[in-house]
Amino acid sequence: MELILSIESSCDDSALALTDITTKKLVFHKKISQELEHSVYGGVVPELAARLHAEALPKILEECELYFKDIKAVAVTSTPGLAVTLVEGVTMAKAVALALDVPIIGVNHLVGHIYSLFIEQEAQFPLTVLLVSGGHTQVMEVQSLQEIKTVAKSMDDSFGESFDKVAKMMGLGYPGGPLIQELAKGGDRKKYNFTIPLSQSKEIAFSYSGLKNAVRLAVEKAEKEEYKDVAASFEHIAVAHLIQKLKKYFKEIPPSAFAIVGGASANLYLRQEIEKLLKPFDATILLSELKYCSDNAAMIGRVGIEMYKLGMFSSLADLDITPKSAL
Ligand code: KG4
Ligand code: ZN
Repeated sequence: MELILSIESSCDDSALALTDITTKKLVFHKKISQELEHSVYGGVVPELAARLHAEALPKILEECELYFKDIKAVAVTSTPGLAVTLVEGVTMAKAVALALDVPIIGVNHLVGHIYSLFIEQEAQFPLTVLLVSGGHTQVMEVQSLQEIKTVAKSMDDSFGESFDKVAKMMGLGYPGGPLIQELAKGGDRKKYNFTIPLSQSKEIAFSYSGLKNAVRLAVEKAEKEEYKDVAASFEHIAVAHLIQKLKKYFKEIPPSAFAIVGGASANLYLRQEIEKLLKPFDATILLSELKYCSDNAAMIGRVGIEMYKLGMFSSLADLDITPKSAL
């Protein structure tokens, strides 16, 4: 058996996976989430996250000991993410690679989200991808692992982050996405008439900070019983913004295969509206399994296989973290 050990620590999930290089089957996957620890702060506290990674990663690694002899390479998220948490994963990856005398592969987390669609499967391209996570909102045209072009991105906050911030305003906890989605179920989507961001602009780009501020004013005025309507109206406009810009983009470049990835791709209202949008185009929709939408090491291992086959290794001395996105 020839395995890749993969490590993810770009934000608040400590995760390790072992993937068979030949069959792409996952042999081991474990993730320890820190959501509970960050929940009281309404968002991720980087130093706390780093300390929790330093505890969790070696603990999970111990569980992989039986497979050490089969590991042929170590793949680790090296960009983008929080500097202090990326360093935890990369440092451990270097130590393991050195000890086992195997090569190291630095993986881009965003490429990982794209490959979350293809866990234990062959990849299929070309593909238009909407990535919606806590750190990113972007549309990418993907031809192959090495040909990924970003065609639209957020100018400020990301889609997932806006859910986190609205949840924080309402004192709901973290992460906000699932909490707002749940609260919005019982609410009236039309009750608050928030403006769709950038609707007058021809540019295909995203912006969530204006909407967040409008929601803040509404939350300040609302009674607690009205929060569900604020949540529903916010979710409606946050999704409408994505749909409006995608519609514009599809007029220029009609999709043939379209995917939504990233933690916020779990949003059911978004999935439903994207399906409606794609109906007239005879396009296939690809979605990751729910357990692979949010950050995980299986997706990093899946990219690791591709990079391993192409010999895309880094030297231990050169592999560094890059907190800002390169895509
Ligand atoms: O991909 P991910 O696990 O981490 C990053 O790479 O950022 O995404 C986490 C983000 C958080 O902002 C979380 O609130 C959001 O995804 N999220 C959602 C939902 N589930 C998670 N946003 C909206 N609706 C959801 N159901
Ligand atoms: Zn992510």
